[in-house]
This record gives sequence, structure tokens and C-alpha cells, in this order.
Amino acid sequence: MILTEKENTILQDLQTQEKVCMEHYNLCAATAKDGCLKDLFTQIARDEQTHYQTLGKLMNGETPSITPAPAASRVDTYQPKATYSASSNDADKQHDALLCSDSIGNEKMVSADYNTNLFHFGSGEVRKLLNHIQTEEQEHAEMIYKYKKANSMA
Ligand SMILES: [Fe+2]
Ligand SMILES: [Fe+2]
Repeated sequence: MILTEKENTILQDLQTQEKVCMEHYNLCAATAKDGCLKDLFTQIARDEQTHYQTLGKLMNGETPSITPAPAASRVDTYQPKATYSASSNDADKQHDALLCSDSIGNEKMVSADYNTNLFHFGSGEVRKLLNHIQTEEQEHAEMIYKYKKANSMA
């Protein structure tokens, strides 16, 4: 597939953003106090890596098939255990709650970015692919929200 210069620039920007997301989640995984939350962040970091690679394939002229990223495909079955109780308000809980809120805010922004940018693409297939990634970003936010709820943070 041949992309226009503008389409290529958009993909490059989105790819840079995916790299930042990946680094964000790796950092969150490294600093989260709760092991369950570490696992969640690690899984999402892998999804962001998959997004990064998908965008790279598009820029190489390939049309990658739409396959769910590992963590996002598990959103419906994700049932986080409660590590923190409603009454606990210790520093660890506050720290982890902040990582969660921060990550949900990021996902909101990234999801909106995909929504805006896909309108610039001529190919319906590329639009579908970007829409698919956008949905996965929303699912990341949903999983983190589920974690917050289970841990009395939301
Ligand atoms: Fe992503
Ligand atoms: Fe994401």
C-alpha cells in the first residue's frame, strides 16, 4: 500500500506516542507496589509494543491483519483481586492509585488521538486498523478502572 506523506507523518507521530506509552507502562510496572498491578501494567506494555510494531508495518507498506493484542483481548474476563481494602489509606495504596489515574488519563488522550487521526486516511483497511487500536486503548483504561474499583480506589 502506498501512503501519502501526510499519512506517513501521522503514523510516525502515533508510533512515537506508542513508544512513550510502552515506556510509561514499563516504568509503572517497575514502581507499582502491588504485584497484581505490576502484572497488569506489564501486560499493557506488551500491547503498546504490539501497537508500535503494527504501525511500523503500515509504514513499511504492509497491511497487517487485525489481531487482538494479548492483554486487551482479556478485558471481559479480567477480574482483579483486591489487594487494598476500602479502609486502608496507606502510602502504597495512594501511590498505586496515582499510577492508575495517570494511566487512564493517558489512555483517554491516546484514544482521542487515534479517533481524530484515522479520518485523514484514504484506505478503509487502515481506518479499521487504527479503530481497532483505539478500541484496545479504551480497553486498557477499562482494565485499570476495574483494578481501581476492586481496590476501592474509584
Ligand atoms: Fe497503544
Ligand atoms: Fe494503551
